[in-house]
Amino acid sequence: MSCRTQLSSWQALTTASEQLKSQHLKSLFEQDATRFEQFSRQIPGLLFDFSKQLIDSDTFAQLIKLAEQCELAQWRDKLFSGEKINITEDRAVLHVALRNRGNTPIYVDGENVMEQVNTELEKMKAFSHKVRSGDWLGYTGKAVKDVVAIGVGGSNLGPQMVTEALSAYADDTLNVHYVSNVDGVQLAQVLDKVCPETTLFVISSKTFTTSETMTNARSAVAWFLNAAQNEAEIAKHFVAVSTNLEKTRAFGISDENVFTMWDWVGGRFSLWSAIGLPIALYLGYDKFEAILEGAYEVDEHFKNASLEQNIPLIMALLSVWNTSFLGYQSQAILPYDQALHMLPAYLQQGEMESNGKHVTFAGQTVPYTTVPLIWGMTGINGQHAFYQCLHQGNVIVPADFIASLKPQRDVAKHHDILLSNFFAQTEALMAGVNEQQVRADLSAKGKSEAEIERLLPHKIHEGNRPTTSMILDEVDAKAVGRLIALYEHKIFCQGIILEVCSFDQWGVELGKGLASAIEAELTQDGVTHPHDSSTAGLIAYYKQNR
Ligand code: F6P
Repeated sequence: MSCRTQLSSWQALTTASEQLKSQHLKSLFEQDATRFEQFSRQIPGLLFDFSKQLIDSDTFAQLIKLAEQCELAQWRDKLFSGEKINITEDRAVLHVALRNRGNTPIYVDGENVMEQVNTELEKMKAFSHKVRSGDWLGYTGKAVKDVVAIGVGGSNLGPQMVTEALSAYADDTLNVHYVSNVDGVQLAQVLDKVCPETTLFVISSKTFTTSETMTNARSAVAWFLNAAQNEAEIAKHFVAVSTNLEKTRAFGISDENVFTMWDWVGGRFSLWSAIGLPIALYLGYDKFEAILEGAYEVDEHFKNASLEQNIPLIMALLSVWNTSFLGYQSQAILPYDQALHMLPAYLQQGEMESNGKHVTFAGQTVPYTTVPLIWGMTGINGQHAFYQCLHQGNVIVPADFIASLKPQRDVAKHHDILLSNFFAQTEALMAGVNEQQVRADLSAKGKSEAEIERLLPHKIHEGNRPTTSMILDEVDAKAVGRLIALYEHKIFCQGIILEVCSFDQWGVELGKGLASAIEAELTQDGVTHPHDSSTAGLIAYYKQNR
């Protein structure tokens, strides 16, 4: 049994959740005009408003007490000092070292990792400059025009999400294309658009064993050699990002073309490492560095702010409150900024791969729901797709609404229209529309009593749906760094409070192993494995009809 449920704060929060479920957010706002002041925080470049969450000041105090009783501050110190808090893999968790702009030493096994980090950043800087300036030449002496970044999961989602988020700041030096799916159609569609003479492939895989990435990389090499006809030319067109030099060598990539990362960087926290190389190539190293700086600002806030003022901690506490206490099992991420359209997909991996676990640090069954299902899309598109369910469905979905003060481009009135939706939606989700309001509205429209009675239940919106609003100054490189770091630290705090190991992913490993066994059945004669009747039937159907 988890000891979390034995904590006095946990028990007080269990009682409070029963009481607060019968409260309506609208009445909490009516009773207390200072909710916004009490329950909003600011750091440079960002306003964070959690006043539309179903909490009151006593609950907030108990949530902070929960963080104290879970020794959150001590765990935070362990994270930043390089202790091996990834206990199932016996590794430090040091994505913060990758953006440690203060360059304070951080030791792992007695070695200051900052030296390696800085060396690798310098290598990225020099390489991205050489490619972008046209000094890196392909096998026919031409400069690079297209970068094809091959990787999956943490070796893809971060760089691709950031590339999309900051494309407004890109010049036309290089195009970047991402290939993650082993469905060969994705790679083929990208290769149709690029030319072997002017294409640079970045193969990103921490392990350099991931089947999807290796399959795509081998197909890319074959496509390239079909044109270049000389294996020696691979060095001019393929670079790798990995911890596994043995495998990159075996693949045929020479060591000087390999950018290193370390076992203390988790895949889903790796965009700050050389996994971010496609970002530096696309936007220029200075912008990549600005992303690191934004993240560093948040690291400093997370390290130094008191628990009550600590935004990532509050984000985590609210998630635990909504999921483990109030029982809301999903969480929507709704950016009101097209630039952030990939953020929901990115955070799906970040949160669910980290904290979608069922046992405690000590391996005992967790008696509460851990993470919610994370999902979402840009708010406006969501409004015309699934918001009906957010407003009137009988499953409550807490949501993060994210917008910016200024658009990335001068888009005349669009931004006010966009933001009016952002404000309207959280207000409507909170307040709802009650019976009295519906009656008044319908009778003002001249509806008969009978018609009012018939329509009434359909038009009532219960409201009381919790949301958090975040307003960034502008979606620029620093802001993107800040935003991602906020969520990363939220995930860390959430893991500590839920008492789950956030930095392994054994559930993913299971599927990988099974797929490779079945692959042999599909590709080699006479190989069969015992399966349940459904899986056996599906495989047989595929083999007979493919
Ligand atoms: O999706 C599972 C996972 O193990 C992620 O954690 C990781 O980011 C991804 O696979 C890719 O792994 P690699 O970088 O080793 O190819």
